[in-house]
Amino acid sequence: MATQVEQPIDMAKVEQFVHRAVGELGATLNAALVVIGDRLGLYKAMAGAGPLTPSELAHRTDTSERCVREWLSAQAAGGYVTYDDGCYTLPAEHAVALADEDSSAFLPGAFQLMTAAVRDEPMITEAFRSGTGVGWHQHNHALFEGCERFFRPGYRANLVESWIPALDGVEAKLRTGARVADVGCGHGASTLIMAEAYPASQFSGFDYHDHSIEVATTRAFAAGVDDRARFDTASAQDYAGTGYDLVTTFDCLHDMGDPVSAASHVLESLDADGTWLIVEPFAGDRVEDNLNPVGRLYYAVSTLVCTPASLSQDVGLALGAQAGEARLRDVVTAGGFTRFRRVADTPFNLVLEARP
Ligand SMILES: C[S@@+](CC[C@H](N)C(=O)[O-])C[C@H]1O[C@@H](n2cnc3c(N)ncnc32)[C@H](O)[C@@H]1O
Repeated sequence: MATQVEQPIDMAKVEQFVHRAVGELGATLNAALVVIGDRLGLYKAMAGAGPLTPSELAHRTDTSERCVREWLSAQAAGGYVTYDDGCYTLPAEHAVALADEDSSAFLPGAFQLMTAAVRDEPMITEAFRSGTGVGWHQHNHALFEGCERFFRPGYRANLVESWIPALDGVEAKLRTGARVADVGCGHGASTLIMAEAYPASQFSGFDYHDHSIEVATTRAFAAGVDDRARFDTASAQDYAGTGYDLVTTFDCLHDMGDPVSAASHVLESLDADGTWLIVEPFAGDRVEDNLNPVGRLYYAVSTLVCTPASLSQDVGLALGAQAGEARLRDVVTAGGFTRFRRVADTPFNLVLEARP
């Protein structure tokens, strides 16, 4: 065994590291404060309102002045709002990200997802010991809604605008009337965006999680697209139907225990001229490519949610949320697809096309 040479500890570096961690401790707690601000409408009430006292904000949101004052001071210390002479202001640019649900920069859904993931830490710690994983369905319900609200702004900004037009011949088929399966659809955020954009087409959303399917169904009714968007509980390996023009998987292939079997089933279910649109978290192929803020976020959520989810299913391949294009290509080609290409990406998404 090699003997380790003891290095003297550089106390200045220890101090630097602890100092950095203090910032992260504040950010950790701030995540819950963002969820509170979102849930109680505090950010929405501040948007465009100019400087407000805690009492004015509490009055507008029917909340406790003392609680709101403490929340505002924490928000000011974190740079989310500004403070001047007893008044707090939400800058217009921050309002876009914190108060506007339709903005592509909307953040509270992401915080909702991340705080929900943190809440289930005891189950995950136990799963590290057992190695048996934790199913998506075992998480607290805030995770499912957080996931929907985290991903929806990106889908709204990109799906119809750029991802579908980047696919070979798919947009024209959707406009005239195509059959689409959205697999691992969760609450159906992506399914509904497509159903709204392409009224001549028919959309089937599938997910193995029955609660998500119930929510997706109510969302379709609320959006008035229930005539063309239907949802059923089914896994990626056995959902119904053949001859689909387009199959989509949004941010879920890496969550599946057996993505190769899922790929084979997608192939079986597609028309000979069909297309599989695969949207996955943005990642480079090597760990060292992903040692940046986006990679950090995805590796963390992958540790808490995606990897245990895959491990809980048969095969348990556990691609992880930072699989990268090369690994995804291996999965898709192992499933029998012969054509595979990267058609677009954003800072958060890899967008891939597979064809039979
Ligand atoms: C991160 S969520 C993404 C949900 C949705 N596509 C979205 O973008 O909002 C992953 C989804 O994959 C689903 N899922 C995981 N394994 C599955 C499987 N084997 N078959 C079908 N769905 C699966 C989960 O239930 C969950 O809804």
